[in-house]
Formats: sequence, C-alpha cells, structure tokens
Amino acid sequence: MSLAAPQPAFDGHVFRFAQRTGRLRASAIREILKVTAMPDVISFAGGLPAPELFPIEHFAKACHDVLAHDGAAALQYSVTEGYPPLREWICEYLARVNHIACTPDQVLIISGSQQGLDLIGKVLLDPGDTVIIENPAYLGAIQAFDAYQAQYVNVATDDNGIVTADLIRVLREAKRKPKLLYLVPNFQNPSGITLSLQRRRDVVAIAAEHGIPIYEDDPYGRLRYSGEHLPSLMSIAGSRNCIYMSTVSKTIAPGMRVAWLVIPDREVFERVVPAKQAADLHTSSFTQRAVYAYACQPGVFEAHVAEMLPVYARRRDLMLESLARFMPEGTSWTRPDGGLFLWARMPEGVDTEELLELASRRLVAFVPGRPFWVNCVVRNTMRLNFSNASDEMIVEGILRLGEAVRAYMAGAK
Ligand SMILES: Cc1ncc(COP(=O)(O)O)c(C=O)c1O
Repeated sequence: MSLAAPQPAFDGHVFRFAQRTGRLRASAIREILKVTAMPDVISFAGGLPAPELFPIEHFAKACHDVLAHDGAAALQYSVTEGYPPLREWICEYLARVNHIACTPDQVLIISGSQQGLDLIGKVLLDPGDTVIIENPAYLGAIQAFDAYQAQYVNVATDDNGIVTADLIRVLREAKRKPKLLYLVPNFQNPSGITLSLQRRRDVVAIAAEHGIPIYEDDPYGRLRYSGEHLPSLMSIAGSRNCIYMSTVSKTIAPGMRVAWLVIPDREVFERVVPAKQAADLHTSSFTQRAVYAYACQPGVFEAHVAEMLPVYARRRDLMLESLARFMPEGTSWTRPDGGLFLWARMPEGVDTEELLELASRRLVAFVPGRPFWVNCVVRNTMRLNFSNASDEMIVEGILRLGEAVRAYMAGAK
C-alpha cells in the first residue's frame, strides 16, 4: 500500500492564515530587547523591574514551604478560577491598598496581566468593534486587541490623563457604541502620566452615563514615589461595569506570571473562565501557591515594597536631573509620580527610529514612540525606562543620548 502524497490546498499554500493574524506583529520592544542584550549597551528600553531587588530569599522560603507542606497539590492540575486562598488574599489586599470591595468569586487569577488583555479581547471584541484608548497607548493592549481585529478611538491626553471633554466628544460622535474604555490610570505605560482625581470621577460618571465598561489596568499603582495615592476607578462611587486588573510583575517578580482580574459582572466572569480554560486550563498551581505563601510571611511583602520605592524614586530623579543636564534645547519630558517610565519628546523633525541607530552606536537604547501612537503617526517621541539601570548607568546613558540627539540634529544619520 502506498502512502498518498500530501495534497497542497487549493490556492497552493499549505498553511493558510486566519484573517485575525493579519495585524499581528512582533512587539517593537521585544525586537529592541535583542539589541539591548548586547554587552555594554545601557538600555532604557525594556519595562524591566530591577533584578537586584527581587525578594529571592523570602521567595525561596515560600517555594520551599509550598513544596514541603502542599507539594502534591502545587504540582497537580487545578481549577481555572485560581487558588482559593490567593483569591481571598487579593480581596483583602485590594480592600487595604485600593479600597476596592470585591469577593473571591469575582477574582480570576491569570497568567500575567497580558493574558487578561487577551481574554477580555476574546470575550468582548468582534472584528471592527471599537475600544477607546489613551494616546499614546500601552502597546501590549494594542497587540492583544489587534488579534480580535479591534478598531481604536483615541482620546486626547494631557498631563492629567485623558481629557474628559474629548471623551464626551468621542462618545457623542461614535457611529457604533464602543465596547470598552481601556485605561492605565496610574503612571501610564508609556507616558508615566497619572489620571487626576477629578478626571477619575468624571471618567467614571461619563462611562456610567454612556453605558461603556471601563477596563482599568493597574500594574504600577503601588509604585508611587511622590504625590498622593489616588483611588482606583473601580472604587469610585458610581462606578459600574468596571473590570480591574493588576499583577505581581512589578511588585514581586514578572517571572511568576501571576496576575488577577476583578470582574464583578457575573456574566462576563462566566465567559472569561472558559476562555481562559481554552487558553491554558489554569495559571500555574505552583506559582500561585508560592505567591500566596510569600504574601503570608508577616510584614515581608510590605517591607519589600517599602525597600523598592526609594530606589526607584532615586533613579527617576536621577533620570530627570540628567535629562535637564544633557538634553538639548527643544526637548521635553514627563515627570511621573511613579511607575517605571517617562516619555520624552524631541524637537519636530527628529525621527526617534532613526535616532535609535545613532544612539545604539553610542551604546544606549530606548523605545521609539511611534508604535504607541494610535490612528496617527508621531515620530519624535520615545519611552525611557528608569527602573532597570544603576545610578551611574542612568547618568552615563542620558549623557550619551543627549550626544546622539545633538549629532542627529547636526545632520548625522
Ligand atoms: C499597562 C500594562 N499592562 C499589562 C502589562 C503586562 O504585565 P504582566 O507582566 O502582568 O503580564 C504591562 C507590562 O509592562 C503594562 O505596562
């Protein structure tokens, strides 16, 4: 008996891609990370926390305890919704730090916030549906929603976050009702901007009035170095139809891939669970328990956050000072109260993608701003991360960046 030769499909292609993959691109940041992995490059490109601050010792103890006392369950398959004690701890934690009142059955443990973006996209977005987003916007959200063929409506943003008058205009002019309002209210990625208290109240009221769900993405809320803590959108009176998301990536370690969605709407929750089941069955039984065991060591997590804050605050200050010292006239930047990034604007005519070439020859890297902009092309902005470089590297890196900008403006390419 002879085996039949494999038949090509009708159009001659064996693999025929789904339409939804048409807009999928490797993240510009992941591409730049390849360059920055080269030795001696000072990188302000990634969004990486400082590895020297990872709580390795206490985490090792947590992992040991989990394996010693609950090893079989930690290595076994588990339920999709997440490890129940961790879901309870998250409720207690959110009540304490964010005044969010939620119950464990509203908490879904996910494998990183990035998975949350994908799952919410999967459950809520049909091709052509619109999502209202900040401009510039978090690239990972665009990447996730792109896979569901979303369209974006951008709202003007200033130093206090999205401009609410513009949000009202966008909602009035929308031909189809937007499906979501996606926001990063604290120390936004990429801009570092924080939504002001008044704007938070206004956004909640406007969204409730227009019946638009808010998707509040809050990975950086605990990393505040100056100014007053501001209430999360979900905790503001009158907030309805809000989904809240946070993660241990920036407070403990991103390698855990442990994050959570708070979804008070039962129907949405019940659709997201099978969507997650289809994606990965559940988040790692082991890392969920390890995060929980770590968080339960008395005082340890809060002491760790308290140790990180002054280090990051100093790095932010040093970057701001260095920018003031070394950047040429006509450049400007945001002054974030927390988080990991600031956003710089070069003089008109500077293309930061070209500038990156000059900068990388001087062994310094950043993320060019163009991919973060939605529905428009802006070439003269860049994102700078200040959490992942030492004090000396920050000063030296910004010195080199200033030289690269001057060389570019003098005509070097
Ligand atoms: C706004 C925002 N959302 C989500 C994420 C993804 O975080 P996680 O590590 O939890 O997947 C990031 C990471 O940088 C982020 O900045």
